[in-house]
Amino acid sequence: MKVINVVGARPNFMKMAPIIEVMNRYPEEFDHILVHTGQHYDERMSRSFFVDLGMPKPDIDLEVGSGSHAEQTARIMVEFEKVCLREKPDLVIVVGDVNSTMACAITAKKLGIKVAHVEAGLRSRDMAMPEEINRLCTDVLCDYLFTTDHFANENLLAEGVSPDKMVFVGNVMIDTLLKHRELARGLGLVEKWGLQSGGFATLTLHRPANVDEPSIFRGILEALHQVAQEIPIIFPSHPRTRKRVEQFGFGDYFSDTEKPRGLWMTEPLGYLDFLHLNMNALMVITDSGGLQEETTVLGVPCITLRNNTERPITCEMGTNFVVGNNRDDILQHASKVLNGAAPRGRVPEKWDGKAAERIMDFLKDLASNKCLKSKSRAFIFENQ
Ligand code: UD1
Repeated sequence: MKVINVVGARPNFMKMAPIIEVMNRYPEEFDHILVHTGQHYDERMSRSFFVDLGMPKPDIDLEVGSGSHAEQTARIMVEFEKVCLREKPDLVIVVGDVNSTMACAITAKKLGIKVAHVEAGLRSRDMAMPEEINRLCTDVLCDYLFTTDHFANENLLAEGVSPDKMVFVGNVMIDTLLKHRELARGLGLVEKWGLQSGGFATLTLHRPANVDEPSIFRGILEALHQVAQEIPIIFPSHPRTRKRVEQFGFGDYFSDTEKPRGLWMTEPLGYLDFLHLNMNALMVITDSGGLQEETTVLGVPCITLRNNTERPITCEMGTNFVVGNNRDDILQHASKVLNGAAPRGRVPEKWDGKAAERIMDFLKDLASNKCLKSKSRAFIFENQ
């Protein structure tokens, strides 16, 4: 089976790494290449993750870079179509919910190529999130939908998706976390920065809904600044957020010490360093999707600065509180954690480090059934 694995942006890399690793164990069954769309391109947003995760260099980099949603999506589609026509894959695998995920799923499907979506069925029901649009478009097109939890299967069933397409495999991102946990534990960043384990918080913040509107962003920073009087908050900042801080003149909220004190901004961190910090943190404050899941497995309280989550299992079973982006709500929940009133949570079913193996079991069966080549695919390829 000829497979194109697609990555594009930072949260894709840790999801694709275990899939490639397990696929490499079956060279007879899978001839696979890795395509990077180039949606993320900075060293710290992209290449450093390949190094940390031991991922192979992409075979093809589409180098699309940044742009408006339409520009970026269109550029990916144009370039990815050329790759598909040249490589003629039997299957394209996309992960997550970024623009690259949707763009490559649409492109491949229109060429009659089968498409698999890893992390299918997550729904925030918030159409103001670009990721929700990406998830809906991707799932409706895909032939194989690999899900992380029962909510995802229920969402897909409610949308009329045939159960035959769904496979509940667990969480590939957690495969990566469990594999690297011991390595990350031994890194010395907490000591190097003069921090105490359990005596600091980490922060990520980059959603347009939180950082693009000055009054909302200011409210969040005021709350965080106050929490940072109690414990240092380490903030590896996304390029979008850094730009907004400069643009809105919010630099005064951050301390300019050499080592972490108060609300302390640093460059984006690599996968291992950030995992090391999160596993030692008293709490994680975030608007990211993946961190809600990672903190659930680490048993670290997570305060999510959003009004909804596409990952409700992290609230039901895990350590996640979805608190919105209002100053007082953030403060109230942060105080609870500071006062020790946070649950440890439980780890959801099949978040056990074997999700990629389950995906491969399914794909091996598929490869042996040779049911991948659709009529439309043959027609399109032959007529190019
Ligand atoms: C994207 C994903 C989001 C994910 C996030 C993780 C979409 C719609 N959004 O958001 O789901 O949580 O990645 O980081 O796909 N930039 C750089 N260097 C880079 C990449 C981006 O400076 O390597 C800057 C550019 O100014 C760019 C901006 O960040 O315009 C936003 O990048 P973009 O990929 O459009 O979206 P993210 O906010 O990163």
